Amino acid sequence: MPLDPARIKSCYPALADGYAYLDGAAGTQVPSSVIAAIADAYVAGIGNHGGAFPASARSDALVEDCRVAVADLVGGEPTGVILGPNMTTLTYRLADTLSRTWSHDDEVVVSRLDHDANVRPWVQAAARAGAVVRFAEVDAASGELDAGQYDDLLSEKTKLVAVTAASNLIGTRPEVTEICRRARERGALSYVDGVHATPHFPVDVVALGADFYATSAYKWSGPHIGAVVASPALLDGLHPDKLQPSPASVPERFERGTLPFADLAGVSAAVDHLASLDASATGTRREHIVASMTAVESYEAQLFDILLGGLDTMEHVRTYGTASLRAPTACFGVAGLRPREVAEHLSRRRVNVWNGDNYAWELAGVLHIRETGGAVRAGIVHYNDRFDVDRLLEGVAELAPRPV
Ligand SMILES: Cc1ncc(COP(=O)(O)O)c(C=O)c1O
Repeated sequence: MPLDPARIKSCYPALADGYAYLDGAAGTQVPSSVIAAIADAYVAGIGNHGGAFPASARSDALVEDCRVAVADLVGGEPTGVILGPNMTTLTYRLADTLSRTWSHDDEVVVSRLDHDANVRPWVQAAARAGAVVRFAEVDAASGELDAGQYDDLLSEKTKLVAVTAASNLIGTRPEVTEICRRARERGALSYVDGVHATPHFPVDVVALGADFYATSAYKWSGPHIGAVVASPALLDGLHPDKLQPSPASVPERFERGTLPFADLAGVSAAVDHLASLDASATGTRREHIVASMTAVESYEAQLFDILLGGLDTMEHVRTYGTASLRAPTACFGVAGLRPREVAEHLSRRRVNVWNGDNYAWELAGVLHIRETGGAVRAGIVHYNDRFDVDRLLEGVAELAPRPV
């Protein structure tokens, strides 16, 4: 097996606390190498951007290294990597910028599969511009987002299509390449939410055909930093609000205020960590990443099959979603208990899971779980192992109603 679960687990100091961390979809733990990279940046001394002294040059180098690392991770160009506090903030920024030219003749297409961070910024920007919003629908039983429906949703009026590469609630991976292709054919831009996708499989933004690809490093072993990747030529034509003296260049003009330089060192280290997961990989860092993330995808799929298979055998458990292609994220409910109560029970068993709608607001409505506390979410990431999955299954099995 290209991945060595024991070696990987030993990279993460937090995992030594005895808990099964199945909450990775809400944010992963960080390996020692990331913690060290952040500490090293502070130890070496950093200064603000563009100064005449070495500490300032070190900060500038951290920014450039980070752009190269994120570009390597998703197959983009470093000068098209916009860095910021998180995906939500960056998406609001892009929505504000892109919508300046929209009017009541224009349309925007969002999906009910998406996290609200790739829905509401577009809905609100469209409302300000007077543009029409159309929703791509999810099949409630399977959790599939049919790409074919975009033929009817799109027209020459469409300015932007926002869609997720993987659902953070039920894991569905829609045919993003097909959706982006249809958008492009109609002259619309595509904005792909890669926050849940990036940690689970290799990403190539060029092959996806995504005009914008958003990701968040804290979902893939890095610190709390977001990034949006686009082609520098596309960014060249966009003009966000900015301060008069701040850089007008691309991508800097999309970045507000001072970047968290030491955290950016952590982002680069997180990319290096991902690149190192398949120790047998060779070639460039990008080639290491593709090999490692391919291995991650198949390792996680094996664990996910066990997790889902186990849950599906329990009569008191209802799982959501049966899409043909999924990120390894299980969403379920337990008869007679609110999701929070299930999560509290599992916490007593030292198993971390999430409960609620996970901000997949539209999808929670489609699944009719919005008003009942959402669902329980257990997500696999590359540092989880069979032991974590078995503990979850044992904990959920204990919740079966006792025979009277
Ligand atoms: C699929 C998806 N999109 C967007 C977001 C928002 O990301 P951020 O916290 O970086 O704003 C999340 C966070 O959970 C997510 O899972």
